[in-house]
Amino acid sequence: MRINSPKLNLIYKACMKASKSLIRDFGEVEKLQVSSKGPGDFVTSADKRTEKIIVNELLNAYPDYGILSEEMGEVNKNNKNNRWIIDPIDGTSNFMNGIPHFSISIGYEENNSIKCGLIFDPIKNELFFAEKGNGAFMNNSRIRVSKKKNIKDSILATGGPKYSSKIKEIILDEYNFISKNVTVPIRKFGSAALDLANVACGRFDGFWQREINYWDIAAGEIILKESGGFIEKLKPKENEMDKMSIMASNSLIHQDLFNLIYKKNIE
Ligand code: IPD
Ligand code: CA
Ligand code: CA
Repeated sequence: MRINSPKLNLIYKACMKASKSLIRDFGEVEKLQVSSKGPGDFVTSADKRTEKIIVNELLNAYPDYGILSEEMGEVNKNNKNNRWIIDPIDGTSNFMNGIPHFSISIGYEENNSIKCGLIFDPIKNELFFAEKGNGAFMNNSRIRVSKKKNIKDSILATGGPKYSSKIKEIILDEYNFISKNVTVPIRKFGSAALDLANVACGRFDGFWQREINYWDIAAGEIILKESGGFIEKLKPKENEMDKMSIMASNSLIHQDLFNLIYKKNIE
């Protein structure tokens, strides 16, 4: 494992500690108490337990640093210069239903720019990580985006909250491809963090999603950029909790993907 910087080392340690309890919880998923947080978005006790382990580790090391974490919200709100961005379980619906596809995502931000991050899939034991200027890795291997230039040869992923105000657009996005005679395989795996990691390592060529939160993509952003990919925030957030629209790709198919999804002429 080529983890050098103290920040990356710390998030790695926090993530590994939390993932042990997460794996245990996944084994007992049917016994988990599930409480409803809002439409389409459930919080399990595992979410909160995982988050607590990560947050405690980070606060022990840097008590004054800010935190933005999905379940807990903000800690040390005034420190926006040094901040951890956490999604304790990305892919909660999968997790709750016993589908082995979810991840822990932790990013570190300095003055509004992500410096390093990791995404861990505890089931496949795949750790994706990157640090600004040092490339991106999966376990011990350097990763790079795919080299596909033609969107017709691509495989794409997308996602979407179950109850979305943009549900019509989300359905139309996919229809748009068909209406333009481009038949590209599209997958919906249910963990945006892993979707980005999979673009970074060349398994997917592109990913897009409307209505996504910052904690879903913070670590993925640096991993993708460091692997040669491109991520575009199409609706930049005005405040912290705003959802965004993003498009991510191997760079080479980016313009085609944008044209297919956003330059539409269908009613
Ligand atoms: C969700 C997943 C999903 C994406 C949703 C997210 P959660 O995160 O990343 O793939 O489509 O928009 O909310 O709720 O499982 O942490
Ligand atoms: Ca998430
Ligand atoms: Ca989550």
